Amino acid sequence: MVSYKDLGLVNTREMFKKAINGGYAVPAFNFNNMEQMQAIISACVECSSPVILQVSSGARKYANQTLLRYMAQGAVEYAKELGKNIPICLHLDHGNSFELCKSCVDMGFSSVMIDGSSLPYDENVALTKKVVDYAHQFDVTVEGELGVLAGVEDEVSAEEAHYTRPEEVIDFVSKTGVDSLAISIGTSHGANKFKPEQCTRNADGILVPPPLRFDILEAIEKQLPGFPIVLHGSSSVPQEYVKIINTHGGALKDAVGIPEDQLRQAAKSAVCKINIDSDGRLAMTAMIRKIFVDQPAEFDPRKYLGPARDELKKLYMHKCENVLCSAGKA
Ligand code: G3H
Ligand code: 13P
Ligand code: ZN
Repeated sequence: MVSYKDLGLVNTREMFKKAINGGYAVPAFNFNNMEQMQAIISACVECSSPVILQVSSGARKYANQTLLRYMAQGAVEYAKELGKNIPICLHLDHGNSFELCKSCVDMGFSSVMIDGSSLPYDENVALTKKVVDYAHQFDVTVEGELGVLAGVEDEVSAEEAHYTRPEEVIDFVSKTGVDSLAISIGTSHGANKFKPEQCTRNADGILVPPPLRFDILEAIEKQLPGFPIVLHGSSSVPQEYVKIINTHGGALKDAVGIPEDQLRQAAKSAVCKINIDSDGRLAMTAMIRKIFVDQPAEFDPRKYLGPARDELKKLYMHKCENVLCSAGKA
């Protein structure tokens, strides 16, 4: 049993309280390799933002759970070495079983998500409560989810989105004891968040997605004043990366994300954690594809992973400074 407190990590409780009161959201960036972790930490140190390092079960399988945990521990030391002891949380993204959540709590995670959103309501409540009862013994915070996002939720896939029902949230939060609640108001996972027929097109032929359901968010906030709300599927799918990818051998079709102004608006509300994974994947892929095409004789991984890492850092700083408004809040 390893306590996150001994690793220098923090849970989300204080982070979220400050974010709600301060009208910003804490970034939750997914990572599964060293370059992503370096980019996240150096960006958040440079702009002085708190950060949630997020690990999916797929990432855990890919990178090895022990290595990832030591990397998070290393992230705390790396931040100090860069000059700032920013709050860093290590969070399990889309945990799909009690056993997985328990294993993460036992090995030093400071926060876990139990995603029972695809289960019938009562089963979601029972599973979430079981995780909360275990995690809270160790002061590990828990995120639950109500409502289903369209797209692929880790190993949970949903053909259609089912928006969160505001009339269920009080019952869910009080029965489970969760510390934060992920909701469905029209965001979606991945780089293809919407079908073209759900969108309109702007003058450049780029798809414009349907707006987020701020009316549902407001109704939820009325039910749970001051309670921390989480938005998954919040990549904006920057079209400049899509263009670089597609002009350098890629084939991304109709890739479209959540407009930044809507995320900025959400961050001012009780939304205090915003999840971003796909945008980082696009930034890395764009840089690597470009270097492979422009410098075909290059074969030192540092020569393409390095620029990809620099671009990632730029992207994460932009998110903190201009979208989530978490810069300067560490
Ligand atoms: O919401 C899902 C995250 O983007 C993680 O994706 O399961 O491919 O690691 P992954
Ligand atoms: P994106 O696919 O929009 O980056 O969402 C990531 C996410 O929600 C991770 O849980
Ligand atoms: Zn998610």
